[in-house]
Amino acid sequence: MAGGSSEIALAIVRKLQSRAPREVVLLGRSTDALARAADGLQTAGAPRATVLEVDARRTGDHADVVDEAVRRLGGVDIAIVAVGVLGERGGMPSDMDAAIELLQVNLVGAGSLLLQLARALRDGGGGTLVVLSSVAAERPRRSNVLYGASKAGLDALAQGLADALGPEHVHVLVVRPGFVHTRMTRGLKPAPLSTDAQSVADVVVDGLDRGATTVWAPKQLRWLMLIVKALPRRLFRRMKT
Ligand SMILES: NC(=O)c1ccc[n+]([C@@H]2O[C@H](COP(=O)([O-])OP(=O)(O)OC[C@H]3O[C@@H](n4cnc5c(N)ncnc54)[C@H](OP(=O)(O)O)[C@@H]3O)[C@@H](O)[C@H]2O)c1
Repeated sequence: MAGGSSEIALAIVRKLQSRAPREVVLLGRSTDALARAADGLQTAGAPRATVLEVDARRTGDHADVVDEAVRRLGGVDIAIVAVGVLGERGGMPSDMDAAIELLQVNLVGAGSLLLQLARALRDGGGGTLVVLSSVAAERPRRSNVLYGASKAGLDALAQGLADALGPEHVHVLVVRPGFVHTRMTRGLKPAPLSTDAQSVADVVVDGLDRGATTVWAPKQLRWLMLIVKALPRRLFRRMKT
């Protein structure tokens, strides 16, 4: 699981864990947070939960880290990509370095981990990738320009890989949550239809059971986003989104 300290990803693992014991490797940059998360999963019944350090920005390390995770587990059936930062809100960034770093983490870094995990699953005979995208990917807004752009790129990569690797038994589930109450959104005004990590996990596991290719959390966002995407650009531009 890349983004191993993510509140949403850990909720997904706990939900899967409640059905059957699972060995887990948590990948991430903050080893203390990962070690706490691994302890929590073992207390909840995971036979083994270990951690591996990786920074999304250090793409040159990703192949080796993913290979080590696969080696430890002796094979992977489900991999989750949950790396992401929200970054500065608004349009034109005030801090260009931070803006570029956000693109490096959310698009290049998460995309690199996604590619390496897809390769590992394919080489291992198949499996499922769960990719944390966002409704922001569907229609990037001026209040969230960088985040929306980064998620749109990652979402497109995940969809393309799903189509390309389906015949090789790699299934990809793209997850598009709206506003989720986690540390990422702490202190922000909740958007309509806001939800929590546990509810996102319920939607994801239901999607895995159904073999879905895309899920929205909450589910109603699927229909709301159809309307949002259909709005003419001239109208969308005038909205205070
Ligand atoms: N919360 C929401 O409203 C929401 C809505 C839609 C989509 N999502 C997406 O869902 C995913 C999980 O988010 P969350 O809500 O669970 O927030 P979170 O708990 O903050 O999880 C984000 C994860 O990304 C990791 N990360 C950030 N920068 C990294 C880097 N340079 N290298 C490696 N890992 C890095 C974080 O690790 P550290 O512990 O080291 O920071 C953390 O594990 C994200 O991709 C997010 O964009 C969230």
